[in-house]
Amino acid sequence: MPACGGAIIAPLWVITAAHCFLRFKDASSWIVMAGKHDLDNSNESFQQLVGVSKIVSHQGYSMRTKEFDVALLKLREPLQYNQYVRPIEIWMRPLHPPMRCSITGWGSTRENGPRVNLLQEVNVTLMPLDNCTHFYKGRIQPSMLCAGESEGGVDACQGDSGGPLSCYTGERYQLGGLVSWGVGCGRVHKPGVYTKLQDHADWIANAMTRVLSCGKAETPPCRLGSLPATLSDVGGEVRAGGVTEACPYSWPWQVSLQSEGRHYCSGTLINRRWVLAAHHCNAKMGDMVVLGVHDLRFMASQSVPVDEVFEQAQDSSFPPNNDLSLIRLGEPARSGDSVFPVCLPDDDIEVDDSWTCVTTGWGQTKTLEKVSPHSLHQARVSLVNLTACRSIWGEDLIKDTHLCTHPAAAVSCMGDAGAPLVCQKHGLYFLFGVVTWGSRHCDLIKPAVFTSIADVRLWIKDTTEDV
Ligand SMILES: *[C@@H]1O[C@H](CO)[C@@H](O)[C@H](O)[C@H]1NC(C)=O
Ligand SMILES: *[C@@H]1O[C@H](CO)[C@@H](O)[C@H](O)[C@H]1NC(C)=O
Ligand SMILES: *[C@@H]1O[C@H](CO)[C@@H](O)[C@H](O)[C@H]1NC(C)=O
Ligand SMILES: *[C@@H]1O[C@H](CO)[C@@H](O)[C@H](O)[C@H]1NC(C)=O
Repeated sequence: MPACGGAIIAPLWVITAAHCFLRFKDASSWIVMAGKHDLDNSNESFQQLVGVSKIVSHQGYSMRTKEFDVALLKLREPLQYNQYVRPIEIWMRPLHPPMRCSITGWGSTRENGPRVNLLQEVNVTLMPLDNCTHFYKGRIQPSMLCAGESEGGVDACQGDSGGPLSCYTGERYQLGGLVSWGVGCGRVHKPGVYTKLQDHADWIANAMTRVLSCGKAETPPCRLGSLPATLSDVGGEVRAGGVTEACPYSWPWQVSLQSEGRHYCSGTLINRRWVLAAHHCNAKMGDMVVLGVHDLRFMASQSVPVDEVFEQAQDSSFPPNNDLSLIRLGEPARSGDSVFPVCLPDDDIEVDDSWTCVTTGWGQTKTLEKVSPHSLHQARVSLVNLTACRSIWGEDLIKDTHLCTHPAAAVSCMGDAGAPLVCQKHGLYFLFGVVTWGSRHCDLIKPAVFTSIADVRLWIKDTTEDV
């Protein structure tokens, strides 16, 4: 039975009213229906029905004052955007009465009437708060909006709660508010009251970041040098500076790929079922993926066999251009303090110096004097732009799908053949690269080359969704 309306603000997020969850607080008892028009037709061509994995109600919501009537639903799977299912942005500019906005919903069309099967829309006029305060005797807060017609007749009603108040900018609709409360429906001098979303924009952004299930470790990175790794020539020997042993489990997406008990490459957990690794690591069915491990000599949180390995289409070029594999785990990883997936960058995020980038791995080389080969080590790394990288390696070798860093991140300096490059901004780590090649002898000037992950999002999405 439809209980409330809501609005899509991101593929995994629907915004609605907190008061919808007073009685049914359990996420699993809710389902989000998108792309619907006729609720009585359970077979509409463009409908998408998705379960809810988490309800985040505003902690300040009060039944008495009805303030902070906003909640976010995190969906179990992302909605697929198309002509019928699209997100709306929040209106952030001033909302001046008597602007007109639209409300939509499946609520009743008259007070105490039944809900309707076809989506309804009606236009309402925003009302100055002073007038509304007058009608509602001081119960109106600045974080609310009032709308209706002074003679009544148009309003949201039972079943519309949480639904969008959409306002037209001249180019597109933006979300001004959510249906919150009122007295009756469409009564004279009893306008509808809405949650004014622009006042809650920070809460919305923070709530979404907090429950995003990637890119955040329970144990924050520590002992990480404040400066990027360096290389120096000490009496004819190259030495790496700025590389330190990681604090255990501060990089919970890092996994060790092992064959017959020996570590041969790192991989990166991108969700509970999938690990991304360098293709040149040659992971095979039956190898082990070891998760939640710091010192390779000791017990790990979990070891899971490789179920299947998927490669990008290969051509015969050398060095290889498509140096990535997706490894499907034999059983889902148990997320916890020591095992947690990294975030993947969206196609339109570019990494630049505003990000803090780190590479992590196991193994040893002559350049790493003080680091145990068994313990996960870490180093900040500085980025090298493609122009500069090409000027050293040559135009042909460096493709647009590569990402270059300071030479110190090369396998010959850091010791791990599949090391990830993770970059952090706004508190979350994203996997931007997987090391592919570099100088053979830890050269002081030749940049390390990574496969850029932002460019292969589609391949990752298609592979991990299809199988
Ligand atoms: C929905 O459509 C599918 C095929 O398009 C059909 O098999 C199914 O019986 C329909 N269900 C209902 C409830 O109409
Ligand atoms: C509401 O206003 C919009 C824009 O002015 C208009 O296109 C739409 O037809 C109106 N809807 C109703 C139900 O009056
Ligand atoms: C708001 O109240 C003022 C003063 O009472 C009145 O003049 C005005 O018409 C009202 N505006 C609306 C939109 O009801
Ligand atoms: C690339 O990096 C070099 C060396 O740091 C710098 O001189 C150049 O301006 C950069 N080019 C671009 C396009 O950012």
